[in-house]
Amino acid sequence: MSKIEEMLEKANVAKSNAYAPYSKFYVGAAILSENNNIYTSCNVENVSFPCGTCAEAGAIALMISSGDKVIKEILVTSSGKELVYPCGACLQRIREFATTSTKIHLADDKKIIKTYLLKDLLPQQFSPKEF
Ligand code: THU
Repeated sequence: MSKIEEMLEKANVAKSNAYAPYSKFYVGAAILSENNNIYTSCNVENVSFPCGTCAEAGAIALMISSGDKVIKEILVTSSGKELVYPCGACLQRIREFATTSTKIHLADDKKIIKTYLLKDLLPQQFSPKEF
């Protein structure tokens, strides 16, 4: 199984565990780190809506808490009819740990439908370099 197939399979498992009783919109994310480790997560909603977290945020937290620092690729899949694009806040979260070649894959249940570079989705960036 290729790394990308493994990412999709694991993101689908994470999506099936999503806690989204309010939106009923289930999201799974999988990160491939520069050390070739895979980190997954799902969205976790809360009755106090702003407290909910996106799948990408959870996967990033798992990557960082596991000791990895760089996102080589990230895959996002949802239960929606349309592809889910990472929200603006998650693009900024991804930016923190990205390189110029970090890829963002948008997938349905079975395959990757579109692949972007982070700069395609976030062309002007507030980056750690500026701080
Ligand atoms: N959501 C994500 O997990 N990732 C995204 O990039 C977009 C939105 C979640 C948040 C919320 O639980 C649900 O999708 C509906 O917005």
